[in-house]
Amino acid sequence: MNIELAPSILSANFAQLGADAQQAIDGGGTILHLDVMDGHFVPNLTIGPPVVRSLRKQLNVPFDCHLMIENPDLFIPEFAEAGANWISVHEEACVHLDRTLHLIASNGCKPGVVINPATPVETLTEVLDLVHHVLVMSVNPGFGGQEFIRNSLNKIAALARMRTERRLEFRIEVDGGVDLGTVADIVKAGAELLVAGNAVFGHGDIRANASKLLEVARAATLARA
Ligand code: DX5
Ligand code: ZN
Repeated sequence: MNIELAPSILSANFAQLGADAQQAIDGGGTILHLDVMDGHFVPNLTIGPPVVRSLRKQLNVPFDCHLMIENPDLFIPEFAEAGANWISVHEEACVHLDRTLHLIASNGCKPGVVINPATPVETLTEVLDLVHHVLVMSVNPGFGGQEFIRNSLNKIAALARMRTERRLEFRIEVDGGVDLGTVADIVKAGAELLVAGNAVFGHGDIRANASKLLEVARAATLARA
């Protein structure tokens, strides 16, 4: 299992977004996580395709666009064109989830599905063979810097079991409250793609924060059963 860090720019300084993101990559981040919010599906607003397009010109890592929006089908082609590599949509926002996941793939991106803390993993049974990654929200989406919801560990472990039982290959990503205090348990539960905003960008040296978080995460893999 390949542990990777996906710094979430939500907690970066937007006046120097490219430079902040580059520091997180220099610290070991191998995927850039971009949170897209519409003020409807979640009570906050963030970025759209122009920001993705601008960052694309500066950075070479895969862009993981997490769409916290209603009617994502309307925007998927534009995010793909702007430079997204992975696009994930919320199960709760998609009436025709199968269709939406195929739309992401047909636009040349890796499809992912996201579930909120109150959504059971069983709701994904019929799409697990379609997705590149499952994103388990470990906070209620909308804001950075919230406390990790510990029941997410059970959901990660359940997904890892389902993956083994069905011999599937989707990757397990976790988003929300990932920090030095929670990351070891998260990795031991079976997650391998670690999204972190506040822990990377929220204080001090971005590069050192990313590097330390990855170090602690990788050390935890040695303790994993
Ligand atoms: C929350 C976003 C997260 C957020 C995580 O809705 O999806 O990606 O940036 O922030 P932290 O790591 O600060 O909990
Ligand atoms: Zn996110």
